[in-house]
Amino acid sequence: MLADLAVLPSAAALADAAAGRFITAARDAIASHGQFIVALSGGSTPRDTYLLLGTEALVSRVMWSRVQVLWGDERCVPPDHIESNYRMARETLLDRVPIPAANVHRVHGEDDPATAAEVYEATLRALLRTPAGGRIDLVLLGLGEDGHTASLFPGNAAVQERTRWVMAARASAASVWRITLTPAVINAAAEILFLVSGGGKAGILRRVLEDPRRPQELPAQAIAPSNGRVRWCVDAAAAADLSP
Ligand code: 6PG
Repeated sequence: MLADLAVLPSAAALADAAAGRFITAARDAIASHGQFIVALSGGSTPRDTYLLLGTEALVSRVMWSRVQVLWGDERCVPPDHIESNYRMARETLLDRVPIPAANVHRVHGEDDPATAAEVYEATLRALLRTPAGGRIDLVLLGLGEDGHTASLFPGNAAVQERTRWVMAARASAASVWRITLTPAVINAAAEILFLVSGGGKAGILRRVLEDPRRPQELPAQAIAPSNGRVRWCVDAAAAADLSP
């Protein structure tokens, strides 16, 4: 897979580069169609990027009143739960920027998973139906050590989904249910930015970028936008196994 790959010297440099990409994407989208629709990733990697975007130095670089925030996935837990992706983004970013509450579209992880997925799909379709909408401008994604991204797990039906935009999914019968965007809506985005950090991801990053395409086994390989860009922002530790 020929990827638009930026290898940064450290996790801090990765966060800085990702924040810069977020700011540029927001500026371009707002200049082009008056708003910026972004789907945030969960997990730990994006935390430093979100913290940076909320600093005094950067907070005014984004016109937050024109930003619509979504999530690429959410755990089926209440919004104040330690595992909630909404809680992580609220604490690191949303409570520190002047974004109207109406622009924050959290997944109702506290509800029944199938219902939460249906409701979120309706929210997404309404948001993207507006003249300024059309598609998500930026989707932030991480990469799990099993090759998952968002909550698209190996062997999961959501990986192959081409119609529904939002589905309930779980890694295994013993795992917590999650709500995830599917490749159907992710691949329609204008830009997808993977953030991958740490030596623990070196092996899986090499497999996703260099092995033959087998999305059922490596769901991150299902991310191939029809008319958009995929960028990988990785640190040197995560890039250690990539071919020169
Ligand atoms: C989540 C994320 C998930 C994450 C990867 C990487 O809800 O956890 O959406 O896809 O991005 O598992 O997680 P880390 O950034 O913590 O390594």
